[in-house]
Amino acid sequence: MLDNRPDLPPEIARRRTFAIISHPDAGKTTLTEKFLLYGGAIQMAGQVRAKGDARRTRSDYMAMEKDRGISVSASAMSFDFKEFRFNLVDTPGHSDFSEDTYRTLTAVDAAVMVIDGAKGVESQTRKLFEVCRLRDLPILTFCNKMDRESRDTFEIIDEIQENLAIDVTPASWPIGKGREFIGCYDILRDRLDLMDRADRNKIAETVEIEGLDDPKLAEHVPAELLETFLEEIEMARELLPQLDPKALLEGTMTPIWFGSAINSFGVQELMEGIGTYGPEPQPQSAEPRQISPEETKVSGFVFKVQANMDPKHRDRVAFLRLASGHFQRGMKLTHVRDKKPMAISNPVLFLASDRELAEEAWAGDIIGIPNHGQLRIGDTLTEGEPLRVTGIPSFAPELLQGVRAGDPMKAKHLEKALMQFAEEGAAKVFKPAIGSGFIVGVVGQLQFEVLASRIELEYGLPVRFEQSQFTSARWVSGDRQAVDKFTESNKQHIAHDNDGDIVYLTRLQWDIDRVERDYPDIRLTATKEMM
Ligand code: G4P
Repeated sequence: MLDNRPDLPPEIARRRTFAIISHPDAGKTTLTEKFLLYGGAIQMAGQVRAKGDARRTRSDYMAMEKDRGISVSASAMSFDFKEFRFNLVDTPGHSDFSEDTYRTLTAVDAAVMVIDGAKGVESQTRKLFEVCRLRDLPILTFCNKMDRESRDTFEIIDEIQENLAIDVTPASWPIGKGREFIGCYDILRDRLDLMDRADRNKIAETVEIEGLDDPKLAEHVPAELLETFLEEIEMARELLPQLDPKALLEGTMTPIWFGSAINSFGVQELMEGIGTYGPEPQPQSAEPRQISPEETKVSGFVFKVQANMDPKHRDRVAFLRLASGHFQRGMKLTHVRDKKPMAISNPVLFLASDRELAEEAWAGDIIGIPNHGQLRIGDTLTEGEPLRVTGIPSFAPELLQGVRAGDPMKAKHLEKALMQFAEEGAAKVFKPAIGSGFIVGVVGQLQFEVLASRIELEYGLPVRFEQSQFTSARWVSGDRQAVDKFTESNKQHIAHDNDGDIVYLTRLQWDIDRVERDYPDIRLTATKEMM
């Protein structure tokens, strides 16, 4: 669909790989559930609920993590809708996991932004939106809970435009507010979609309309709503831009659908919108060259690792986004970082409720590869060419704490557990050059608690987190001699991360400024690229 692109093989062209972003409670879980329902992946609404409910508190979160089977299969879900294959990638709900979220968004081609019609753009929506913006991801918007008292439609649109600096074009227009909401006018297809309040699972009744003066409108829309609706839609046509598919794909315009996920209203229209206007699998930036989805050779990259789904077997699943080609089970791929071949004999495709062996997959799909730790976030697999997917960052943690095993004899076990979480991307682990013990870095406080519980649960090892003398970490780079000289004279601040890269630990911005002044050949950075 994008300009200057050769036609993709039909199997690839029908794929839509996306994530849903929203502020907690806006309706992401409910919408996901309806997607799966219309995608035929689940039989009944309610099956994904366990997970949605789990996000709310820490204890619920832990309960969910105990049942890691659920959280894994929900990490990436594939289903068909009409002629499209949707791959829906879950983003972690809690704001403490923003790094994980960022990496998840490197594996998708588009995002669906869900907002609550009464609340508009909320803090977490804004944060996630900014992350999408960094990658110019196309965004489709769903304004949910229109069955309840909601804001004025123009106000909602204005708020998105003002707050997020993106053009908004209405794909549908709500008729009536709150209790009086009867449905939407489908602007893209000149239809009237009427919500069924009595049956939440019933698909809306649609009435084809020939233009706004079609007398059929008055038959279905009560007179007291009709006048306001006609005024609004006329104003909307005058004031708001029309859908420009190219601007959507470039991430500068978002179409907005109004609906009510719980009432199954507006969901199919949104799904059709994702299919019709959403991007096909996109080229992937890599070194030394970009990868195009239509290349016949298979390549992919790991954007997420989930470990210990079964604590008894220390197994891990690496989530691989296929960047190109047609993958078939049993293929031998080259693990570019290790320069070793890997037979992919048990790949899994994630359907909503089951894991299934993936016999085949195409560019755009997400497959899970069970492994024993060979695969890390950022790894690239190819059919031999030494390509390395770029743009998967690692962020300097914002909180640092020391960690000790409750039983000092178990220090080795602790090291193993920490390394594993570091590879999973759940934390940064630094080994100071001087002294014993480790320093763990995370983005949000909740992660320390989750880590402590997981180390105890999965390794039978009680641990204590304690205050560290350091508060920030920066990766050190520069020419070899300069780095050696720098580390030698700053030993008490130096540590190594789990990849062996050198890190400068400090508590003061002043220290960082001083290094920059005194060591012009050294670079301190707050992000490093995973490789
Ligand atoms: P989240 O994943 O984004 O956090 O949101 P979730 O889907 O869990 O929805 C949050 C709450 O909003 C839920 O209510 C859900 O039922 C409700 N909800 C979702 N869509 C709609 C809608 O279109 N209209 C209305 N009125 N409510 C909606 P809850 O009371 O927290 O949970 P529950 O008891 O309903 O399961």
